[in-house]
Amino acid sequence: MANVIVVGTQWGDEGKAKVIDYLTERSDIIIRFQGGANAGHTVIAGGEKFIFHMVPSGIMYPGKTCIVGNGVVFDAEQFLCEVDELSDKNIDSDGRLFVSDKAHMVLPYHKLEDRASEALKEGGKIGTTCRGIGPAYADKAHRNGIRTGDLNDWDSFTRLLKENFEHKKKFFAAFYTTPFDLKLEETIEKYRLIRKRLLPFLADTTEYIFSATKQNKRLLFEGAQGTFLDIDHGTYPFVTSSNTIAGSACTGAGIGPPCIDHIIGIVKAYTTRVGNGPFPAELSDETGEQIRQNGGEFGATTGRPRRCGWFDSVMVRKAIQLNGITRLALTKLDVLDKLDEINICTHYEIDGRTTAVFPSDLQTLKKAKPVYETMPGWKETTAECKTLDNLPDRTIKYITRLRELCYDT
Ligand code: IMO
Ligand code: MG
Repeated sequence: MANVIVVGTQWGDEGKAKVIDYLTERSDIIIRFQGGANAGHTVIAGGEKFIFHMVPSGIMYPGKTCIVGNGVVFDAEQFLCEVDELSDKNIDSDGRLFVSDKAHMVLPYHKLEDRASEALKEGGKIGTTCRGIGPAYADKAHRNGIRTGDLNDWDSFTRLLKENFEHKKKFFAAFYTTPFDLKLEETIEKYRLIRKRLLPFLADTTEYIFSATKQNKRLLFEGAQGTFLDIDHGTYPFVTSSNTIAGSACTGAGIGPPCIDHIIGIVKAYTTRVGNGPFPAELSDETGEQIRQNGGEFGATTGRPRRCGWFDSVMVRKAIQLNGITRLALTKLDVLDKLDEINICTHYEIDGRTTAVFPSDLQTLKKAKPVYETMPGWKETTAECKTLDNLPDRTIKYITRLRELCYDT
């Protein structure tokens, strides 16, 4: 297997980490290219559960190299916590875990700003993870950001931090109702310690990746969030602050498009969303609750109950288009095992007209009513099925129908 990008096709939490874990064995380097500690990538290995927010989940495999690319907004505290947690479990990351020196840092004031900005929004709260993602990307675009590489020169890092503190303090006083209660000296002290531990991980990762491709090393790009949380193509403004689609792997890792061989989209057998924003196939009834409980649909980062709904093929078709997906991996099928009937959203009805195209503007999307096709449930346990042949006929029919709707409609 050559170089592969794995992306979410819905609103995140599709089970990307499970597929990454599976593909890691046949890869050499695993790269995160966007997002930050808003991701919650859960891997269950040897009966133990690990939730990764910053470190690529491929780190579980000895001998594999993991990279946090330039496109990520980097939370150093979270990263070091995960490194410690791994070393407590005898997983050593020395010499095989690298962080791009161009990755922008998420600093304590970004988290404060994330909360302050949400507090200010009355009706239209996004429901962010409060991990400082939006403010950190905003500073990057605003060119006020601090990059991990700035830690190399302590004087320049502290000067930048001081400038940002002064700027943020004024900003908070003028715009937000939340007080700016961070102390510069304490933050400097905290980052003095962080710096000492972090410097050995910093690298020019674009050079590293480039020379790896020359040696035919196999790259695995670990996407975070999902297609409909993409800042351009998602349900803006109810999105995250990065491009989550496959194209982002090139900018977020610093490689050219010809390096990519496959794009695998991860799709859950139903739909979930955590946070606010339109969700046409949402279930607000007992079936939704049953899916939530059976699927353990509670946020890995925030613990919030996830909103649940039926499989929406209008969305997944759009995701295939936007990402250039060459294969789909279907997850959590067994969550539907007990249902009598299963709906699939095939189209939307908007203002009395039926459409198979995902609307590009929010106001139209808000009006979309799902058009369903109903299939009988299989009412058998599929959790232990390892091959297609082991699955009940009705389950195979469901999968076949999803495939037709996603690829051939
Ligand atoms: P993984 O990688 C699901 C959602 C938040 C919120 C919106 C913006 O585990 O699939 P942010 O903190 O990014 O500014 O929040 O995006 N969100 C996710 N939802 N899975 C994720 O990551 C998410 N990361 C962000 O709930 O609606
Ligand atoms: Mg998640």
